[in-house]
This record gives sequence, C-alpha cells and structure tokens, in this order.
Amino acid sequence: MRVVKFGIIGAGVMGREFASACARWCHLTQMEARPELVAVCDKNPALSPWYQENFPSIRQITADYRELLDNPEVEAVYCAVPHNLHEQIYCDIIRAGKHLLGEKPFGIDREANDAILAEVKAHPELVIRCSSEFPFYPGMQRIGRLLETDFFGPILEVNSGFLHSSDLNPKKPINWKRMIEFNGEYGCMGDLGMHACHFPFRAGFVPKNVRAILSKLVKERPGKDGKMVPCLTWDNATLFCEADDPRHGQAFPLTIKPQRIAPGETDTWYFEVKGMHGCARWSSKNPRRLELLEYTPGSDQAIQQIDTGYETAFETITGGIFEFGFTDSILQMWASFLTEITGGASKGRFASCVTPEETRLSHKLFSAALRSWKNASLETV
Ligand SMILES: NC(=O)c1ccc[n+]([C@@H]2O[C@H](COP(=O)([O-])OP(=O)(O)OC[C@H]3O[C@@H](n4cnc5c(N)ncnc54)[C@H](O)[C@@H]3O)[C@@H](O)[C@H]2O)c1
Repeated sequence: MRVVKFGIIGAGVMGREFASACARWCHLTQMEARPELVAVCDKNPALSPWYQENFPSIRQITADYRELLDNPEVEAVYCAVPHNLHEQIYCDIIRAGKHLLGEKPFGIDREANDAILAEVKAHPELVIRCSSEFPFYPGMQRIGRLLETDFFGPILEVNSGFLHSSDLNPKKPINWKRMIEFNGEYGCMGDLGMHACHFPFRAGFVPKNVRAILSKLVKERPGKDGKMVPCLTWDNATLFCEADDPRHGQAFPLTIKPQRIAPGETDTWYFEVKGMHGCARWSSKNPRRLELLEYTPGSDQAIQQIDTGYETAFETITGGIFEFGFTDSILQMWASFLTEITGGASKGRFASCVTPEETRLSHKLFSAALRSWKNASLETV
C-alpha cells in the first residue's frame, strides 16, 4: 500500500480530527493508499502531548511551520489555522511542493484567495483541495446520484444552509472566530459558508447574483479577563441568489444560509432541492432520514421517508444497517483526498473535496454579499 507522509499545521480542533481519521484508517477496506502522520506544527505547545502519546509515527514537533515545510519526509500537509494565516501559510506550503488540504474559507478575503489561487495555478503537479465533509453523508450521496440522473427535472428552488446556535448565549466568551482581524469581514460566511456552497456549486448551480441580509446580533462578548469587548463579525447571513439550472437552462432561486445564532440548531447542515418531477430534502439534524418526492402528472404527491444506512462512497468495515456520523464523513473526505493524490479511481462528482476554483466562486459570492448588504442592492456575483 502506498503511504503518504503528512504534516499538520494547526493542531487544534480540526488538526485532531484529521489525526484521529489517520488512526482509524483500517476502517476503510478498498484503499490503495494510507496517510502516516510524521510531523505536527502548532504555536501552542500544550497540544503536543496528545499527538505524541497517540502517534508514535510523529518524528517532528515544531512551533515553526517553515521547519515542517523543510522536512523532506513530509509529502502532504493538512493546514487548519485561523483565516488570517491562510494566505501566507497555504502559499508557502504550495511553494514548498507539498500537496495541501486546506481549510475554508481558503483565504480571509478575496485578495488572499486570489493570491492562493495564483500559487495553485503555478503548481499543477500538486493536489490542492479545501475541506468540506457533509456531502459525504449517505443521504447526500444519494441526492448527488439523483442529480446525475435528472430525477428532479427542471429545478424550481434550492436551499442550502449551515446553522449553529452556540453563539445564542451572549455570555459565551469571544474567540478568534468572532474577531474580524482573525476571522475576516465575511464573519459567519467565511466560517460556515463554504459548507453550504460545496454541494450546490458541485451540482453546477452557480449563483449569478445575490441580495444578502446580514445581521450582527451580539455586539459585545466577554474577553479573556471577563470584561466586555466588541464583537464585530456578522452572526447570521441569508443570501438570496439567482442561479441557472445547467441541465434545463432556466433560472431558479438558490438560498444559502450560514448562521451562528439559529435557536434550536446545534450543528445543522441541510440541503433541499425542488424540481418539476422530484424533490429531495436532507439535514444533519436527523442524518439517517432522506425525504424524496417523485411526481408524475396526475399522481399523488407522496413524500417518501427513507432511512439510509451506512452507504458510503469509499467502502468500510461497517455493516450497511448502521448509523453514519460526523467523524465518518471526515474519514470519507480524507479517503477522497488520498485517492486524488495517488491517482486512484474517482467515486463520482459528489464524493470529492472542494476545488480551488470552487473556493474562488465562494469568495465572489461572499464579497458580492457584503456589497449587497452595504448598498441594499442586488449584486452580480
Ligand atoms: N471542516 C470543518 O468542519 C471545520 C470545523 C471547524 C473549523 N474549520 C476550519 O479549520 C481552521 C482551524 O479551525 P479550528 O476550529 O481547528 O481552530 P483552532 O483554534 O482549534 O485551531 C487552530 C490552531 O492553529 C494554531 N496556530 C495559530 N497560529 C499558528 C501558526 N502561526 N503556526 C502554527 N499553528 C498556529 C493555534 O494554536 C490553534 O491550535 C479554520 O480555517 C476553520 O474555518 C473547519
């Protein structure tokens, strides 16, 4: 089996998720490649012991990412750092000749994204992708297959969103994800928006224009010492877009909703498509449940509720009747990235990571949304 030696830059919440996926690689049964974690970089030394205790393969721990990039053993990098560092670190990773799975938003703003994409263009030999795991859920994989077969007919409407409620509590202390200098002007769009864009973009539902409603709901939060400090990022965004149906040629409304203050929603990613012949709805709130409506003229409009099992793009040891969860979607995403690095067979359009060009489209959309809200205008994307 081909071994791809990885380094992690940014060993926090998401760095640990990748490390854990590496440790669980035996779960996948048909892979021709596996990752090996050999190097970890983080500014925070308190994170090292967990990695050292659990991954004897790690031979380099450093606080300086340039040292990790100088390590000839490292072939590929997972980078999960705050958004203000994406441009510099992603560009340096690419220039060092390493494959990269970077985190969204792939640059704090459009300028940073342009700089990263210029480096991507200069290095066509590298596989560079952006992380997004929810499309790997079985219900979403089924919707992807239905889109391929034109089950829906002419598209009437698509709604896609990612809703959190952790910021509903105004006493929650501020962290970098609520500070413009680290998280960026996009606020919740930069943090959550790519999740809501990946699947519609992959389906070819490209927004032509947008009217955005943005809200700043909690304007101050407790800082490190408990004193209130300004919280300036957008909490909620609703993007009303017009998109073209690539198969049938007519325009339809596409709503993209990234929100941090959505009561009752712990971590809800949802997608809904309505067409003249069929409709589908899936949400991570009830992840087994796929709702489908197939309509033939004159028939009843009966909505089927299907309990999907553990049906995955990349085969695993788990029996098909069992439940699929967030960490499974992360493992599937990594299986897809490793497959791309090693030139393995694709598992289809909807079972692969966000491309750099798709991140460019998300930046065009979020920048247009900022203009739209500022000018109360409809903006071209
Ligand atoms: N795909 C997902 O589901 C998902 C979920 C959460 C976050 N994210 C993304 O992952 C990225 C990181 O988010 P997180 O939640 O893991 O944040 P985090 O704060 O838990 O981790 C970021 C880490 O980067 C480290 N860091 C900061 N500056 C550094 C530097 N110069 N060199 C090395 N390390 C440095 C910090 O010490 C921290 O440990 C962001 O881009 C975020 O948008 C993705």
